[in-house]
Amino acid sequence: MSAPAAVLAGLGSYVPPRTVTNDELSQHLDTNDEWIVQRTGIRQRHWSDPGVATSDLAVEAGHRALKSAGAQAPGDIGMVIVATTTPDQQCPTTSPDVAARLGLGNVAALDLAAGCSGFIYALATASATLMAGYAERVLVIGAETFRPFLNPTDRGTSVIFGDGAGAVVLRRGTIDEPGAVLTVDLGSDGSLRELVGIPGNGSRHRSTDRPPHPDDQYLYMNGKEIFPHAVRRMAQSSSAALENVGWNVDDVDHVVGHQANLRILQALAQLLGVDKQRVVTHLDQVGNTSAASIPLALADAAAKGRFQRHDRLLLTAFGAGLTWGSAALTWPGVTLA
Ligand code: COA
Repeated sequence: MSAPAAVLAGLGSYVPPRTVTNDELSQHLDTNDEWIVQRTGIRQRHWSDPGVATSDLAVEAGHRALKSAGAQAPGDIGMVIVATTTPDQQCPTTSPDVAARLGLGNVAALDLAAGCSGFIYALATASATLMAGYAERVLVIGAETFRPFLNPTDRGTSVIFGDGAGAVVLRRGTIDEPGAVLTVDLGSDGSLRELVGIPGNGSRHRSTDRPPHPDDQYLYMNGKEIFPHAVRRMAQSSSAALENVGWNVDDVDHVVGHQANLRILQALAQLLGVDKQRVVTHLDQVGNTSAASIPLALADAAAKGRFQRHDRLLLTAFGAGLTWGSAALTWPGVTLA
């Protein structure tokens, strides 16, 4: 009998309608389209309108993933995981609200915060849940609303980050089925936590006597310092995942890396020895959407008919924490809703 595995059964995505081009950003920031395209590969991003929160995007993407999986009745889904760095509020978590609005009943619901690696961490959590028999199907959503966390005067972050949500339904199946998640590799390095984050609102920050500073609410990032860590950690984690599953680099049909910067993806491809035709890029359209980045890239590539059933995919991500993670899976040929 084949070993149990989480199997991809549905996929959905959503980006808010408002598109923000590089030229639009250049109107109030000291930047320009040429710099942004050359240094990042980003041409536009989507930003949510005022009043829109992460749960709103998560519900849209979740609904599409459920439809794609043919799972809509309460009881079909045993757990909802929302991977996000930008939850609706500190407490309560965002996922119970998302589950309720999707009509999923009194399902288990948790938020997962692992920065831009959040989707891979959530994939691992969902896989473990399914294999332990605690649920038959899990809805995993990566969702972010970065716009309110971007310092409008910081060109280092404002040109990079975008809003969106991507979701997958995973069901309990077996390792030989197309869509099986074959392995996950995860890691972290908290000694480099100062490189990227949102300091305000945590217990560390609130427990000091220092009066709050307006910048505390904003995302900061030391992009230059973090760049080589991103390349090295995604390459190491990818190699570990490939070794776990017994694939050579040449066995991989598609590398779906965290969409932070085109130059990072190119450097990663070079380190791994993968030609760039096999690297999925979506950041030109959406920027860095953190935990939503990988499922959004999967949905975009699937919509373009890029993946064939049984294709071998390597997913890899890196983010605040620092955290990183990679997963190897085969493609099931899901129908997008
Ligand atoms: N527009 C125009 N010029 C800009 C700019 C912008 N938006 N941002 C920075 N610059 C300038 C800098 O001031 C600097 O000018 P100087 O040479 O006169 O001092 C120059 O461009 C180079 O800046 P630098 O910070 O070295 O840019 P970079 O090539 O490292 O690109 C990032 C910046 C953020 C795009 C890049 O470092 C990056 O993608 N880092 C990794 C992000 C990541 O992976 N994060 C983890 C997941 S969240």
